[in-house]
Amino acid sequence: MICVCIGRGRHKHVIAEHQYLAEQGVKLVELRVDYIRSRVNIKRLLSDRPCPCIVTCRREADGGQWMGREEERRLLLRTAIAEGVDYVDLEDDIAGEIPRYGKTKRIVSHHNFRETPDDLEKIHERLSGLDPDIVKIATMAHRPIDNLRMLQLVQNAKRPTIGICMGEIGTPTRILGGRYDAPLTYATFQHELKLAPGQLSYKAMRELYRYEQINAETDIYGVIADPVAQNLGPVVHNTAFRELGLNKVFIPFRVPQDDLISFMEMVQDLDIKGLSVTIPHKEEILRYLVQADGAVRGIGGANTILMDQRSIVGFNTDYRAFNDVLNQVFSHHDEGQSLWGKTALVLGGGGVSKAILYALRRREADVLIAARTFDRAVELAERFKCRPIQWYDRLKYDPDIVVNATPIGMHPNVDETPFDRAHLRRGSIVIDSVYNPEQTLLVKHAREQNCRVVTGVDMFVRQAALQFEHFTGQAAPEDAMRTELKRVIGAAKY
Ligand SMILES: NC(=O)c1ccc[n+]([C@@H]2O[C@H](COP(=O)([O-])OP(=O)(O)OC[C@H]3O[C@@H](n4cnc5c(N)ncnc54)[C@H](OP(=O)(O)O)[C@@H]3O)[C@@H](O)[C@H]2O)c1
Repeated sequence: MICVCIGRGRHKHVIAEHQYLAEQGVKLVELRVDYIRSRVNIKRLLSDRPCPCIVTCRREADGGQWMGREEERRLLLRTAIAEGVDYVDLEDDIAGEIPRYGKTKRIVSHHNFRETPDDLEKIHERLSGLDPDIVKIATMAHRPIDNLRMLQLVQNAKRPTIGICMGEIGTPTRILGGRYDAPLTYATFQHELKLAPGQLSYKAMRELYRYEQINAETDIYGVIADPVAQNLGPVVHNTAFRELGLNKVFIPFRVPQDDLISFMEMVQDLDIKGLSVTIPHKEEILRYLVQADGAVRGIGGANTILMDQRSIVGFNTDYRAFNDVLNQVFSHHDEGQSLWGKTALVLGGGGVSKAILYALRRREADVLIAARTFDRAVELAERFKCRPIQWYDRLKYDPDIVVNATPIGMHPNVDETPFDRAHLRRGSIVIDSVYNPEQTLLVKHAREQNCRVVTGVDMFVRQAALQFEHFTGQAAPEDAMRTELKRVIGAAKY
């Protein structure tokens, strides 16, 4: 069950939001009465409640807003129990002093905003001795491995347990709790009103991650990246899983560079089936591969891995997606059809450029690489047998194909372009890897010059569709993925 938290300063706003949420189909809300700025009237909040609720009153030390006297806080909680509230949240230091009464269920909770301590089991044991119906432990995650420890705690617990790691690194515990029988997870209704670090919105929990459908049989996939917050992998993959009715979920795993080792150790324990791999792990991931396709070795990076009990296999779908878009613009049917005699200019010397350079060189195009850091251009040119040029010389050439593999033009710098309109030749091919927005200034200029254009959305959807095919063995619902991606990009507020 998804419990939506309400933190409002005035009674009438709490009551109105409770009503609204119940009308939206929410089954359980948490009334954070510590947010109420006047004297709290529990009776008023509970008398005509439109759906079940938890009453919680957090002190500042536990991440709440309560600044009144402690006796007063305890009286509020006792009053909520006397009024027959469905659930009451009692912190571990007071749970022993507030006895069970009536039908009210007791959530005995423990919070640690500093870390996820080593002795989670001990804490759980202590909480279990305080007459709980539900044990709740919320700790701050600093490393991906904290998620595994928390989820294992939930899975092995003898009584219903909510185990949440807070912070962005802890997001997987919020989504995956249900797979290990956690009785509920918490969400916020409005994205901007998060009452705990790392909390997701009800809409994202329900529609994007389909929390209510997650069960012990749900296969786990995800993306490893740092940062991961703006990654659109969850949008396209969860849309595709939903579209085909697959019991699979795609999770954002924030994995800092130094934590890849410990993350890969937990991959089997969490039974993760496949991952999309992006900055900063595309190269380092190669250490863990038992098998890799030719492109992974040629590029020196993988963006997709598949796991089973015995091995980890790597793929590079950026490369295959780029090849597919080349086929599309050249109307080539044969995947390896030569581009002999064509000149391509690749702008940027980062991760995605490598896949692009590899694809262009395999098809025998004459490739110029311009990177802001010239040494980088030289290094890539040596590796992929192409010509390095200075960044400021990029307009001096007259290429048949221009590829932007820099973030220039990306939101919010939408008025920037890496290649001036006047230098775009009519009929040439322009491929922009930036997908947010889709209609970059480069794309607009290229269309005005009657160039053949491939957008970053075209490339992104294609590489994700190829990943999806590796993950599931089924054809990807590309149209649905594209539509949802465009909707999310169009609606995104940064
Ligand atoms: N459509 C898709 O499927 C897809 C897939 C992957 C990536 N992308 C997009 O492709 C772009 C590059 O991604 P990436 O993974 O290759 O990133 P990356 O590894 O960070 O590389 C970015 C490259 O762009 C250069 N650069 C950055 N800002 C620049 C500027 N203002 N002027 C000139 N050069 C600049 C960087 O130069 P320095 O080395 O000098 O910093 C670096 O060479 C991003 O916009 C990303 O969102 C799209």
